[in-house]
Amino acid sequence: MLVLWMCGIIGFKGKGNAGKIIFEGLKRLEYRGYDSWGIALNSAGLEILRKPGKIGSLPAAFEGGSLGIGHTRWATHGGVNEKNAHPQLSNNRKIAVVHNGIIENFLELKKFLSSHGFSFASETDTEVIPNLIQFHLAEGLSFREAVRKTLLQLDGYYAIAAVLEGSGTIIGARNGSPLVAGLGRNEFFIASDIPAFMPHTRKVVFLDDREIVELDDSIKVFSVDSGLEIKKKVQRMHWSIEQVKKGNFAHFMLKEISEQPDAIEKAAMQDPARLKKIAGIIGKADNVFFVGCGTSYHACVSAEYAFSEIAGKSVKAVLASEFARHIKSLSEKSVVVAVSQSGETIDLLETVRAAKEKKAKIVSVVNVAGSSLPRMSDETIMMNSGPEICVLSTKSYTAQLAVMLLLAFSLCGRAAEGRCIIRKAAEKAAETIRKSLPAAKKLAKKLSKKQDIFLIGRGNAFPSALEGALKIKEVSYIHAEGFAGAELKHGTIALIEKGVPVIAFMTSESEKQITSNAMEVKARGAFLIGIGEKKSEIFDEFFEIGGCDEAALIPRIIPVQLLAYYLALERRLDPDKPRNLAKSVTVK
Ligand code: M6R
Repeated sequence: MLVLWMCGIIGFKGKGNAGKIIFEGLKRLEYRGYDSWGIALNSAGLEILRKPGKIGSLPAAFEGGSLGIGHTRWATHGGVNEKNAHPQLSNNRKIAVVHNGIIENFLELKKFLSSHGFSFASETDTEVIPNLIQFHLAEGLSFREAVRKTLLQLDGYYAIAAVLEGSGTIIGARNGSPLVAGLGRNEFFIASDIPAFMPHTRKVVFLDDREIVELDDSIKVFSVDSGLEIKKKVQRMHWSIEQVKKGNFAHFMLKEISEQPDAIEKAAMQDPARLKKIAGIIGKADNVFFVGCGTSYHACVSAEYAFSEIAGKSVKAVLASEFARHIKSLSEKSVVVAVSQSGETIDLLETVRAAKEKKAKIVSVVNVAGSSLPRMSDETIMMNSGPEICVLSTKSYTAQLAVMLLLAFSLCGRAAEGRCIIRKAAEKAAETIRKSLPAAKKLAKKLSKKQDIFLIGRGNAFPSALEGALKIKEVSYIHAEGFAGAELKHGTIALIEKGVPVIAFMTSESEKQITSNAMEVKARGAFLIGIGEKKSEIFDEFFEIGGCDEAALIPRIIPVQLLAYYLALERRLDPDKPRNLAKSVTVK
C-alpha cells in the first residue's frame, strides 16, 4: 500500500542530551503531523523508539546521547502504527532513516532489493532508503557516498535524515521537501523547519533541492548529482525564541490571533520602491492570477476585490490545485502572484513551475524565509508575520490581506495613504480582539452543540465568509459554509430552521442588501449574529469592529477566529492540532 508523508524531521549532533533536544524539537515540529513519532539515537548501538499517536513522553533511557534523528508523521495512506512510524531501519538494523515526502518508484526499488535478499517490515515507501544505503555500503562506499548513490535512484519529493551505527555523522538531503541546517556552538542541526532548533541557534543554512548535508564537526553541503562540495551562505534568523513558545497563552492559536496587530503592522512595512516596482509589473500585465490554497486562496479572493475596487485592475483568484485550466492563457505578459504562509504547499509550487515554463512572471507573497517558493519567484514580498505554529492560519491571513491591499494601493499611486489605512486596521484589530474575546467565549457556549453554521457576506465580505467558515470547521468540526449574501436563497436556505446560526458580515457598501439577506434567514428562525461597524437591532448577537475604510476586511475576521477557537475548547478539542490536518501540505 502506498504511504505518503507530510511530516517533521530533525537531526542533532552535539556534546550530549541528544534525545532530549530531538524530543523537544519534535514537539515544536508537531504542527507538521501528529499521527506517530519516533527517535533513533546513536549511542552504544542504534537505539530506536517508535510510537503511534501524538508525541507523548520521552523514556529516561532516551534522554542522553550525542547524535540522533527524530520524526513526527502525517500519513495519508497506510496504518498509523508502530511499524509504519519512523525511523525506518535497514535489514541489518545499522542504518536509520527519517523521511518527509514520497518515493514514487518505491515498488520498483523494493523489487530490486528483494531480488538481493532484502525483506520489508513496514508498508512505507521510506523503508527502501535505509536498505539501499546498506546495499551501497556493502559495495565499499563511504556513508555519504552510499546515501548519495541511493538518492540518485529515488524518484519523487523528499527530505531525509540518516544515521549509521557508530559513524558519528548525520546525512540529510532535500529534493522538493523543506530542510534547513542550524549551526550552534559545537552543536549542529537539520530540521524541516527552523522552530525545531530555535532555542539553540538562529544561524541557519537553507538547503536547495538536490543537496546533501553532512553534520560532523561542522556542516558541509554537497551536490547530489556531482558529489562536489557547495559553499553555502550562513544566514541569521531574526525570529525570537518567545515566538515559538506559547508564553502565557493556553494555545498557539490564541497567541497567534493576539499577535495580529503586530503582524499586520509588520506586513505593511515594505520597501515602497520595491512595492512600486512589483505593483508596476502587475499593472502592465495582460493577465494576472492570484493563486493559493485554503486560507491563502481566500486572501487571493480578497485581492480580486481589492485590485478592482481600489486600483480598477481586474485580477483573477484561482485555487492552485485548479490552475491547470489557465496554463494555456499564460505568456511572458502574464503575472502569477503565488500566496502562501509556508512557501512549501505542493499544489502551489507545481503551479509556479508550470507558469515559469510559460515564461510568466512570478511574484510570491510568503511568510517562511528560505522556503521553496521565494527561490522560484522573480519577486518576493515577505509577510514578516513570524513563525505560525498553530495548524490554522490566523495571523498569516491578516498579514496576507495587508500585503494585497498595499499592492492595490501602490498600483494606483496611493501607497502612503494605504499604509496609514492598514496601520489603522492594525489598531482596530487590537481593539476588536479586546472587545470581542469575552463575547466570542460566551457565544461559543451557546453554539457548541449546533450542527451547522452559515456565514454570509457581500462584496469584499464574501471572502471573509469563506474564510470564517473554514476556521470554524477545521478547528471545531462543526459544519460551516460561507456564501455570497444573495446565494443562500438559491438553495441552502432550505437548511435554515429555528435556531440555526447565521453570521452576517455587515459592510457599509452593502448594508441594505445584506440586511435583507439577514432578514430572510431570520424570518425562517435563524439565530442571527452580526459583525460590522454599525450595530443593528435585527441581530441576536453583534460584534462591533471599528471602521478602517478599505481595510475593514482585516479586523472583521477576528471575531470568527475567536469564536472558532472557543468552539474548539467547548468541544474539548485541541485547537493547535485539529484531526487529520498538518500545517504544510507537501503532498498532492
Ligand atoms: O502554507 P500555505 O499558506 O500555502 O497553506 C495553505 C493551506 O494549506 C492553509 O491555508 C490551510 O488551509 C490552513 N489549515 C487554514 O487554516
